[in-house]
Amino acid sequence: MCGIVGAVAERDVTQILLEGLRRLEYRGYDSAGLAVIDEHQTIQRSRVKGKVQELADTFSENPFRGRVGIAHTRWATHGEPNVKNAHPHICRDIVALVHNGIIENQETLKKELISKGLEFYSDTDTEVIVNSVYLALQEKDDLLDAVFKVCEQISGSYALGIMSKIDPDRLIAVRKGSPLVIGVGVGEYFIASDVFALLPVTQQFIFLEEGDIADINRDQLIIYDAKRNKVERSINISRLNADVADKSGYRHYMLKEIFSQPVAISDTLEKRLNNKLIANNIFGEQSDEIFTKIKSVKIVACGTSYHSGLIAAYWLEEIAGIQCHVEIASEFRYRNSVISDNTLFVCISQSGETADTLAALSLAKQEGFLSTLAICNVAESSMTREADLVFLTKAGHEVGVASTKAFTTQLVALYLLVISIAKQHGLSKADEAKMVEDLQSLPGRVNHMLQYEDEIKTLAADFADKHHALFLGRGSMLPVAMEGALKLKEISYIHAESYAAGELKHGPLALVDKDMPVIAVAPNNHLLEKLKSNLQEVRARGGRLYVFADRHSNLNNSDGLEAVQMEADYDHTAPILYTIPLQLLAYHVAVIKGADIDQPRNLAKSVTVE
Ligand code: G6P
Repeated sequence: MCGIVGAVAERDVTQILLEGLRRLEYRGYDSAGLAVIDEHQTIQRSRVKGKVQELADTFSENPFRGRVGIAHTRWATHGEPNVKNAHPHICRDIVALVHNGIIENQETLKKELISKGLEFYSDTDTEVIVNSVYLALQEKDDLLDAVFKVCEQISGSYALGIMSKIDPDRLIAVRKGSPLVIGVGVGEYFIASDVFALLPVTQQFIFLEEGDIADINRDQLIIYDAKRNKVERSINISRLNADVADKSGYRHYMLKEIFSQPVAISDTLEKRLNNKLIANNIFGEQSDEIFTKIKSVKIVACGTSYHSGLIAAYWLEEIAGIQCHVEIASEFRYRNSVISDNTLFVCISQSGETADTLAALSLAKQEGFLSTLAICNVAESSMTREADLVFLTKAGHEVGVASTKAFTTQLVALYLLVISIAKQHGLSKADEAKMVEDLQSLPGRVNHMLQYEDEIKTLAADFADKHHALFLGRGSMLPVAMEGALKLKEISYIHAESYAAGELKHGPLALVDKDMPVIAVAPNNHLLEKLKSNLQEVRARGGRLYVFADRHSNLNNSDGLEAVQMEADYDHTAPILYTIPLQLLAYHVAVIKGADIDQPRNLAKSVTVE
C-alpha cells in the first residue's frame, strides 16, 4: 500500500506534495513524510508518525521550499509506524527515496550492504533500495544508471520516486508491481500512486507500464520499458473531477457514502437499461456474443468485493443456470485451479489496484479463460486497463475505508451481468423485464431502508460493551451476513463472525450466551421458516437476537428478540436492501465506541501489496 507523490517544477512543490498526500491518505495513514532538494541543493525532510494533517502541522512550524520533491503516506509492512520508519528514506544526505511495495530479497541485500559499510536507521525494507542506489551511484555517477542497476538487484513489488542532490533537477520514477502515474503539466511533471492525487495540478496523465522507468526533468520526460528501450507512452486526459470529496454535512464520509447509495445505484444503472430491458453489450464490445459461449463463471476478488461475488454466484446459478465459483484472489493466484472450457473470468474491485486481484487477473489472462471482465469503480485503474471487458460502477469516489456504496453498486453491476448472461441462455423477455423493474425501483427502496436509521441507532447502544457478535443468514443472505460482520469488525473492532444459520448447531452455538449478540437477516423468502428454527436454537440458549426482518416475516419484539420490521418485499435484489441496515448498525456502534470510522486502525482503502 502506501501513497507516493513527487514533483519537478519551476515553483515550490511542497504544497502540491502535501495536497497530493491528503488525497492519497486512503492508501495508508500511519505515518507520512516529504522531502525536497532546496535552493542550496540540500535534501530537506519532514516526517511524522500519524496522519497527513500532522505532517502539514509539523511542516508549517519548520517549512522549507524546493522545486523537486517526493512525499509518502505509509501503511506499515516492515517495521512499526514511527518516525524512523516513515518515508522518504535518505542515504548519506545524497539520495532520497519513497517506496510503495515490498522488497522480497531485502534480508540478503541488507547483509551485503552492511558488509560494504552502509548504515541502516529504520526497520523498513525500503532502506535497502536507497542504500543500493547510493552505492551504485559511487560506481555509475549517474542517477538513472544507478537506478537501472538497482532494479536488477531487487525483487518484489515497487513503485519508487527517487531524487539525488548530485542531480538536483531530476526525478526518477519506477513502476513494478505497484501502481504509478505521471502527471504532465506545463513545464512541470508529477508522479503519484493514482490520478486523484494530482487532479488539482493536471488533467493529463501517462500510465506507466509494468517495469517502466521514467527519467523526469522539468522540460523532458524519457520513459524506458522493462527491457530498457526508450518508449513513447500515450497521454490520457482524465475526466475525473478535482473536487476533494467533502462530507456534505455528514459527520463521517462513511455515513455520507451510506446515504448516497440511492444516487450511486441510479448512476450505475444509467445508460445500462433500454426500454425496460438490459441494453446491449454493456460489459464491453461484443460482450453479449461472448456471453453466448459461457459454460461457467469464475469470480475472484478480496474483502468486501469478494462478498459481492459470493452473492452473484447465488444469482448466476439460480437465474442463468450457469455454474459459478468464487474465490479469494490471494488463494486463486497461488494454486493450480482447474479451468473448464468456456469459463468467463470476473474480477471485482472498488479500486482496481488491489495487488492480489490484479495478480489474479494477470494470471487469468495467461490461463485460457474465455474472456476476462473487470467490475471496477475507478475508470483509470490498472485492472480496467488490463481486462478484456470492463464494467464501471458509478459509485463516485469512496473515501471511507469500510466499503459501502462501492459494494451495493458492485451488486447492481453483478445483477446486470447475471441478467445479461441469462438472456443469452434462454431467459424470457418477461422475466428480464421483471428483473429490470426491480432494479429500477431499487434506488427508492434503498432510500426507504435508510429511514430505519433511528431504530438501528437505538439497537447499536446494546453492542457498545460487547466483545463478540455473530451474524447469521441463509442462501444469498449468508454473504450479506458476512459483509455485516466485516463492517462491524472493521470499524468498531468488535470481533464478529458470520455463519450460515444452518451451521449454527455444528459449532458456533457453543459460543452463544447473553454476551454474544446474534444478528440475523430474515427476508420473507422460502428459507424464512428454516431460519426461524435456527433463531429458536439461539433463544433456547439465552442468546440475545437482533433480527432485520421483512414486516411480513412475523418476527416480533419479545423477550430476548429485537426485531426491526422493514418494508422490504423479497426479490433477487434483497441482498442489496438488507445490506443497508447492517452498514448502519456497524456505523452507529463505531460512533458510540468513538472509533476512527473513516480511517480504522491498521487498515487501508486500497491494498496494493500482497
Ligand atoms: C481493502 C479495503 C476493503 C476492500 C478490499 C478490496 O481491504 O479496506 O474495503 O473491500 O481492500 O479492495 P478492492 O478495491 O479490490 O475492492
